[in-house]
Parts: sequence; structure tokens; C-alpha cells
Amino acid sequence: MPINDSANQRIADFDAALTLNGNQPPEGPLYTGVDLGTAYIVTAVVDRLGNPVAGALTHSKSSVRDGLILDYVGAVNILRQQVAMIRGAGFSLQAAAAAYPPGTVGRNAKAFGNVLDSVRLEVVGLIDEPTAASMVLGITDGAVVDIGGGTTGISVIKDGKVAYTADEPTGGIHVDLVLAGHYKIPDYEAEKMKRDPERQSEILPLITPVFEKMASIVRKHLKGHQVGTLYLVGGTSCFPGIEAVMEMETHLPVSRPDNPLLVTPLGIALSCLEQSHNFRNA
Ligand SMILES: Nc1ncnc2c1ncn2[C@@H]1O[C@H](COP(=O)(O)OP(=O)(O)OP(=O)(O)O)[C@@H](O)[C@H]1O
Ligand SMILES: [Mg+2]
Repeated sequence: MPINDSANQRIADFDAALTLNGNQPPEGPLYTGVDLGTAYIVTAVVDRLGNPVAGALTHSKSSVRDGLILDYVGAVNILRQQVAMIRGAGFSLQAAAAAYPPGTVGRNAKAFGNVLDSVRLEVVGLIDEPTAASMVLGITDGAVVDIGGGTTGISVIKDGKVAYTADEPTGGIHVDLVLAGHYKIPDYEAEKMKRDPERQSEILPLITPVFEKMASIVRKHLKGHQVGTLYLVGGTSCFPGIEAVMEMETHLPVSRPDNPLLVTPLGIALSCLEQSHNFRNA
């Protein structure tokens, strides 16, 4: 199933809202989602209809790694700046949700909520990342594969519920390492080169083995599950050509939104909207 236009439009609206340029705070309550990722910390804000109205994206500077908060104070500081900037633009943020990678349990899942508490956001709920992504994509069945900076989350969704999840330590960092080794450049330059559309067709053959490895990990996890479509999200899924490798290895039709990087953070804000109503009616 292809991604529908309204999902792509909502993601594009969130991308536009990130600049905070001339965004008018809407009437009514706002709902915030925070994605503490290995590569980026992203805050998304939606209105009561789920329309994106504000947001911020910052490099996470190693404060989060592979689904664990390594530098709690560092993560809080980045989020504090983001929230201050958005509040400073006139948006009154209160209710918020955080997400944790699939399989995260106990104290680590709670730590994600504590980061939000520290910046005076009221945590109405925690959600796992693939369920957040599926809310944006508007799907109730399929496999959501979130290839981020450090990890790849694999989830099978059936009838709107997560039927299986796994999180594997493979992501954009591994692509950067291969490029850095080949061109004899530092990792951060490799990361920039990877995002340059002018260089992507030249580097695709070099990094195809990394994508194949990711795809074989995904295939292993999906074995035995009835999956109709594989939905690719996460920043690493932006790279043109990754979807073809995924299709070849998994023998599944692959759908990718126009901008896979922003799906999970936006989904966390949508889950905040949904969970707020349950929270207040409880
Ligand atoms: N246009 C692009 N092409 C290829 N890779 C990209 C592009 N844009 C971003 N990336 C990569 O996407 C990764 C970040 O994606 P994302 O924000 O989904 O990860 P994260 O949530 O921070 O990490 P994780 O989920 O692993 O904790 C980085 O490795 C970055 O280099
Ligand atoms: Mg992520």
C-alpha cells in the first residue's frame, strides 16, 4: 500500500513548521512529541486536529545512543533549548509524550519521560516508536522498519497493534563508517557527503552492502510473519536506492513516505493528542 497523500502532506507541514518562521500559535491546546534519537533530538507540536504547528530538530551530540540515554544532562539541555525556543515563539507547551525504541523496558523507558519532566512538560504517555510512526502513516497492518542513526527498529503491526518488535544496532553510523574508510575522511564529513544529493548515485554502490546487511536482518525478523507491505521510515531511509535493496532482500513491496526522517517524531505528537484525551478522562 502506498503512503497516502494526506500523510505525506502532514509530514511536509511539519517540515515547514520546524522553521518557526511566522508560525501563528493556534487557538486551543497543543500536544507535544519528543523523539530522543541517536542522531537527532526532535520536538513536534500539533494542534487539537493533529496539524503540525511548530517543532525543532537538533543534533543529539552523543547524548543518546542506540536507544539509551547516555548523557542525561546533555539531552535535557538540548530539549530545554528547543522548548524555550518554541515557547518563546508564543506556543504554550504542556502536554507531551516521549517514545522509546521497541523492546525498551523498565527504567530506560521511564528515563525518556524524566527528560521531559525536567523541562516542565507534562508527560501524558510513553509510546513505542513504531506505533508512533504507524499513526502518521495511517496504517493498521504491515511492517514498520525505522532505520535511524544508530539502530533499526523492526515492528509488525496487526489490526493496529504491535504484534512483534525488535531493535538492532545498525543504522546511519555504519553507513558513515564505510564511506569514511573508503574516502579516508572523518565520520562527520562522510555523514555530510551521504546527505548530498549530488554524491548519492556515486556512493550507492559503496554502501549497498551495508543496506543489504540491514535488509537481511529485517528479513530474519520478519520470517514467519504475514506481512503485506514494508514501510520504511527513519533518516537512513531517506537515501535513494535503499528501498530497492530492501525489496530485493525481503521480497516484500516497500513503501516510503516523501520524508521518512520526520515520521516518528510527528507520530509521538499525534500519540500525545490521543493519549491526552484518555489521560484527562481517566
Ligand atoms: N538525506 C539523507 N540520506 C541519508 N541519510 C540521512 C539523510 N538525512 C539523514 N540521514 C541519516 O539519518 C540518520 C538519523 O536518522 P533518525 O533521526 O531517524 O535517527 P535517530 O532517531 O536520531 O537515531 P536512532 O533511532 O537510531 O536512535 C543519521 O545517520 C543521518 O546521517
Ligand atoms: Mg529514531
